[in-house]
Amino acid sequence: MRVLSHLFANNRAWAAEMIRREPDFFARLSGVQAPPYLWIGCSDSRVPANQIVGLLPGEMFVHRNVANVVVHTDLNCLSAIQFAVEVLRVEHIIVCGHYGCGGVLSALRDEKLGLIDNWLRHVQDVKSKHRIQLAGLASEAQRHDCLCELNVIEQVVNVTQTTVVRHAWARGQALAVHGWIYKLTDGLLRDLGMCVTAEAELARCYESALADAAAEPAAARIPEAPSVENGVRTQKGPGMA
Ligand code: CO
Repeated sequence: MRVLSHLFANNRAWAAEMIRREPDFFARLSGVQAPPYLWIGCSDSRVPANQIVGLLPGEMFVHRNVANVVVHTDLNCLSAIQFAVEVLRVEHIIVCGHYGCGGVLSALRDEKLGLIDNWLRHVQDVKSKHRIQLAGLASEAQRHDCLCELNVIEQVVNVTQTTVVRHAWARGQALAVHGWIYKLTDGLLRDLGMCVTAEAELARCYESALADAAAEPAAARIPEAPSVENGVRTQKGPGMA
C-alpha cells in the first residue's frame, strides 16, 4: 500500500513488452530526444496526450495544466515552449482542449474553489471576451462546449504571441501552431481550424475559427478520417490505448 506496488508491477510488465517488441527500444531512446511535436493539453486524467494520438515515448514533448491555459507570464509553460522550439526544434505546437473540461465549467459557473480560481480567471477572461456569443446559446451544456472551443482558440493566439514563437518565425524556422479539441464521449479529436504558420496568418485564422465555432460547434461533428500526410508517423505500440 505504501509503495504502490501494483504500479511498479505494471511498469515492469510495460518495459518488458516494449523490449519484446523492439529489443533496443530503451537504448535507442536514451540516446537522443527529437520529438516533432509539443502538446499543450489539460491535466485531466482522461486526456492522456500520447495515447490518444497513438505516439510512443520520444515522439511528443508534453506540457499539461488545468484547462490547457497559456499565460504570458507562466514561466513553466513558456520554458516548455522555449525548450521545445529552440532546443528540440519541434515543427508543431498543438494546443488541445477537451469537452467536459471541469476547469472550463468552473470558470463558466464562476465557482469558488480556492487558489485555482486565480488560474481559471484566464478562462473567465475568455468567457468575458465572448460573452455575447455565449449568451446566445440556449443551454449551459452548449455554453460549456462553446467555451471549451473558444478557450483553445484563444490559447493558440497566446502561443503565437510569445516571443519564442515570434522569434522562431522571424528567423524562418518552420513552426505551426494548431488548435484541437478532444471529445471524452467518443475518443475523437476535432480540428478547430486554427493552424497558424506565420504571424501574418493569425488574424485570418482567428476570425475564421471563431466564425466556425459560432456556426456549428465542433462537438456536433463526427470528424472524417484524415488522409495520412507525408511525414506523419502512425506507429502503433503499447502506448496506443
Ligand atoms: Co480539462
